[in-house]
Amino acid sequence: MPPTLKEQFQSRPCHIAIIMDGNGRWANEQGLPRLEGHKNGVKNVEEVVKLANELDLRVLTLFAFSSENWKRPRSEVSGLMELLGDFLTNRESLLHDNKIKLRIIGRKWELPRHIQALLNKTEKATQKYEKTLCIALSYGSRTEVIDAFKSLYEDIQKGACNPKDLDWNCIEKHLYTEGLPDPDLIIRTSGETRLSNFLLLQGAYAEIYYSPKYWPDFDRNEFVKALELYASRERRFGKTGEQVKAGC
Ligand code: FPP
Repeated sequence: MPPTLKEQFQSRPCHIAIIMDGNGRWANEQGLPRLEGHKNGVKNVEEVVKLANELDLRVLTLFAFSSENWKRPRSEVSGLMELLGDFLTNRESLLHDNKIKLRIIGRKWELPRHIQALLNKTEKATQKYEKTLCIALSYGSRTEVIDAFKSLYEDIQKGACNPKDLDWNCIEKHLYTEGLPDPDLIIRTSGETRLSNFLLLQGAYAEIYYSPKYWPDFDRNEFVKALELYASRERRFGKTGEQVKAGC
């Protein structure tokens, strides 16, 4: 039997976050409507969730809908919401089979009511599991900062937080990602090399792998390439290479 991804990689990330880009171009190149690209994108979500499980990954975060994606044509936005609804209605078993809990980050309250209800139901039904599939919906780092400031301000007004004691630990508790480890590895597909308002604070020390493949074509080979890149990096977190080698 070939080794599993977990066996193959001794140095592996605990949290991988993916910008699933290129569904539209994938569809265009095949002469298909954009929504077909998104449909194939959802199929690939299933494959990558399985790969993440084989790696024994603690958290997989997927950027599925940004705070800026509301500006897309209405038919594309509703098509994406429908795909998400189908996934939640018909594929909850993927989460149970792989023992993964669902967690949403972003302005969930901006999503259609029936999608919010499905998300809440699935989050509740899977909360007993340890591993996490985190889906970023109506998410953007800048709106995350705005929402964090608002909730921090409320705490200060209630006397629950003294501004003089503010530190990163305190601020982190007000981000959507509260309680989640920072991403160790961020992957963006489709050859684009930017972070597009995704986990800008949490990804401060993340390694970044840019895959040339469109998201529907992002496969095991590409996943392995990203893991190889991660394994080859020395993560110094501001220290010198000598300090890191000496374990201090
Ligand atoms: C970016 O490709 C992709 C999106 C904006 C949507 C991604 C959403 C999915 C794959 C479905 C998510 C569903 C679940 C269940 C998590 P693009 O449309 O910007 O591609 P382009 O840059 O080639 O036009």
